Order: sequence, then structure tokens, then C-alpha cells
Amino acid sequence: HVREAVRFADGVHTLHELGVTTFVEIGPGGVLTALTQGCLDDTVAVPALRGDRPEGQAVVSALAELYVRGASPDWGALVPGAHRIALPTYAFQRERYWLAGDEDPAAVGDPADAADSGFWDSVEREDAASLAATLGVSADASLSALLPRLSAWRRQRRERSVVDGWRYRVTWKPLGALPRPGAAGPWLLVVARESEWTASVRAALTDHGPAPVTLVAGPGTDRRALTRELAGIGPVSGVLSLLAEDETAAAGHPGLPYGLAATLCLTQALGDAGIDAPLWCATRGAVATGRSDRLDRPLQSQVWGFGRAAALEHPQRWGGLIDLPDLLDARAATRLAAVLGQRAEDQVAVRASGVYGRRLVRATRAAHPAREWSPRGTVLITGGTGALGGHVARWLAGAGAEQLVLTGRRGLDAPGAAALAAELEESGVRVTV
Ligand SMILES: NC(=O)c1ccc[n+]([C@@H]2O[C@H](COP(=O)([O-])OP(=O)(O)OC[C@H]3O[C@@H](n4cnc5c(N)ncnc54)[C@H](OP(=O)(O)O)[C@@H]3O)[C@@H](O)[C@H]2O)c1
Repeated sequence: HVREAVRFADGVHTLHELGVTTFVEIGPGGVLTALTQGCLDDTVAVPALRGDRPEGQAVVSALAELYVRGASPDWGALVPGAHRIALPTYAFQRERYWLAGDEDPAAVGDPADAADSGFWDSVEREDAASLAATLGVSADASLSALLPRLSAWRRQRRERSVVDGWRYRVTWKPLGALPRPGAAGPWLLVVARESEWTASVRAALTDHGPAPVTLVAGPGTDRRALTRELAGIGPVSGVLSLLAEDETAAAGHPGLPYGLAATLCLTQALGDAGIDAPLWCATRGAVATGRSDRLDRPLQSQVWGFGRAAALEHPQRWGGLIDLPDLLDARAATRLAAVLGQRAEDQVAVRASGVYGRRLVRATRAAHPAREWSPRGTVLITGGTGALGGHVARWLAGAGAEQLVLTGRRGLDAPGAAALAAELEESGVRVTV
């Protein structure tokens, strides 16, 4: 600069002509980098150091920028002794949230199907010429007349197998050894009234841990009273409700078992009282784990229905549902304690033959075709004024029902109900909402 012109631009252009496309400025800042960028349009110019950051960081950043812009730094010089490893760098901790063995039956090709696929392709495309060639016959009018029927049949079968793939049923899987119940704090046992049964459950808990605290929530108990009582109870490690056992009608509600109403109250009151200990609801004979296992107490099954909704709405304070045998012998008592001591299974049946967990499995299609249902006379549709109810009602009207009774809380005031009734009547069916 002092003695003669540096001719920086000429220097950069010469380098560029010689094939240099990447420039690294070795110096205390980025002045020359900026000048270089000013001389050339398409070039990579990176300063090794920056006035505003520590040297180490600036050099590594420069290397990184060079790397992402196509240069190949010698990483070995930067991190001696390092070597490449294959991705991923950790084992994925995968957790499945869908059903096992859940292959889409419509997508799984049968080898025999593969062989036939050319034939069915021609059918589906209604391509008479190619079908005739496949069959070795002439493409005459009779073949063309048959084709649309064949392709409709094919389409129907395909649709049916897709729909069949959506069918599931419940099954009960024997559970392996459950962990031995460990020592924990006392449980809260909630009963509608004391009985031999509640005593045997209390004894089972006492045999495998501290004696439980018992709360009697008999008829007349309400949410607020229950909340007050719960607030007075010290910390518990879990809540076991035997309320479902009481199948007598709730006061003023002849169709509602007290046990179910009280289970709802208890669930609400536990929330009100801020008790987060897991709630387990016990039933007896409310589920059938197989053909030879009798479902003796369908009224208690309602607690299972309620429990599955509660489990979804309050997962953080839900324990599970447990169906117990009529007699709680020593083995069943140990199993009860083991079930209460774990959190992996939340729908469990204890039987003489072991402990069973509820599972959803694919329902295989019955070998014989389903019988069509032809509605006759009057058909009652509960929730008939709703979205699905409307579809069902239209279908029934077209399928032969003479009268439809649609129910809902609001009756004709439900949105669209009046229009639906008018439309159905127009089609010739009598409608009562
Ligand atoms: N739509 C879907 O795609 C779909 C899919 C899977 C499952 N589902 C289930 O199928 C059922 C019907 O679905 P949707 O879509 O048709 O529901 P929606 O349009 O809300 O219809 C519900 C119907 O039930 C009546 N209803 C609601 N609460 C009632 C009560 N306490 N007592 C008597 N009637 C009552 C409603 O009338 P009021 O309100 O006047 O009582 C209405 O007629 C629901 O359980 C829904 O969860 C629906």
C-alpha cells in the first residue's frame, strides 16, 4: 500500500482464472473476504478469524462453512483419532401405539392373486380385447356384456375386504408372571357397605402390604360429602373401589345401579380432593374371558364402560379395571395384589386359571356370508336425530321399515331433525321423533 498499488482485484481475478473458487482469508478479520466477494460473483470466500468471536470458534465455524459449501476439510487434522460411524448414533427407543400384526389385509397380496392379477386387471379396466386374449376366446358381444358385471363384482369384493379389515374384537390374553407386589403405602378401600366380600378384599391387601384405609360410601353419599371425607384422609398409594358391587338402584333413578353412580361420584370427588393416587375399580363377573367364563353380572359391566372413558379423560390418576372371581382365595388374593402393584395392564380379569389382560385383535370374517337384515315394521333409532342417526334412518326407510322412531333429548328441536323427518316421510315411511 505504501510503495505501490496492491492490485488486489487483478490478483483475485487471476486466481479465479486459474480455477480457484474458494478463498479463505488468513488474517485478523473479514475485510479481504468482503473485497473478494466484491470482485467475483460466484465464489466462496470465508474469513478464518472474526473480530467478534473467540479464535477457536471462528476457525471451526469457517471450516464448517467451507464444508457445507463444498470444500473437503481434513477433519482428521481437526479431531485426531476420530473415526466415522454409521448413523443412527443411538438405538431408537421405539414404542408402538398401534396393534401388533396390523397388516392391511387389502395390501397383502396372496401369491395366487399375483398370478391372477393380469386377468383381474383386464376385468377392472373392462378391456374386452385383452381379456379375450388372456382367455383365448374371441372378444365378442357376450364377453363385452359380461365385463361390466364382472368388474362390479370385483369392485364389491375388494371394498368388502377393506371394510372387513376394519373389524376388531376383544379377547383376553393370559398374562405372564406379574411382578411381586412391593411394599408401598396404604391403599384406600372404598366400599358401599361392609360385607364378607369387602372383608376378604381388605384381608388380601393386608396380607401383601400395609392395612388399607376404608371409606364407606353408602347410599346418600354425594360428590361434595365424599370430597370432604377424602380430604381428611392421609396420603395413600392407590384407591381400590368395590362400589360396583352394589347393584341396587340409585335413589330416584330406577335404571341406574348405585354402584355405577357412586363410582362416578368417587372419580369426581378424588379429582376435587386433589388425590392423584391411581383409582382401580373392581367388579365380579362383569366380563367373560372366554366361552366357559360366565358373565354373571352385566350391571357391573357398566362400570367397565365408565372406566374406559375415565381412563382416557384422567390417565394421570387412573389405575384400571379388575374383574375378580366370586371367591377371593389365597391365590386370587396374591394376584389381586400383584395387579394393583403394576401399571402396565389396566383392564384385567383374575380367574382361577390365572390373570388375563384385555386385548383388541382383528376379527376374522366369518366363513359364511353375513345374513342381510331386512327391517320390517317399526324401527327405533336412539340418537336418531344425530349425524349417524340420519344416515341409518335413510337406509332403513329405503330397506323396508314402515315406521321409524327417532329419539334424542331435544326431539324435533335438534338441528336438522325436522327436515330429516320431512324427508323420510316423503319417502313413504311414518316417522315419530
Ligand atoms: N359421526 C361419526 O363419524 C362417528 C364415528 C364413530 C362413532 N361415532 C359415535 O356414534 C354416535 C352417534 O354419532 P353422531 O355423529 O351421530 O352424533 P351426534 O350427531 O351428536 O348425534 C347424537 C344423537 O344422540 C342424541 N343424544 C345425545 N345425548 C343424548 C342423551 N343423553 N339422551 C338421549 N339422546 C341423546 C342426540 O340428540 P340430542 O342432542 O337432542 O339429545 C342425537 O340424536 C356417538 O356415540 C359417536 O361418538 C360417530
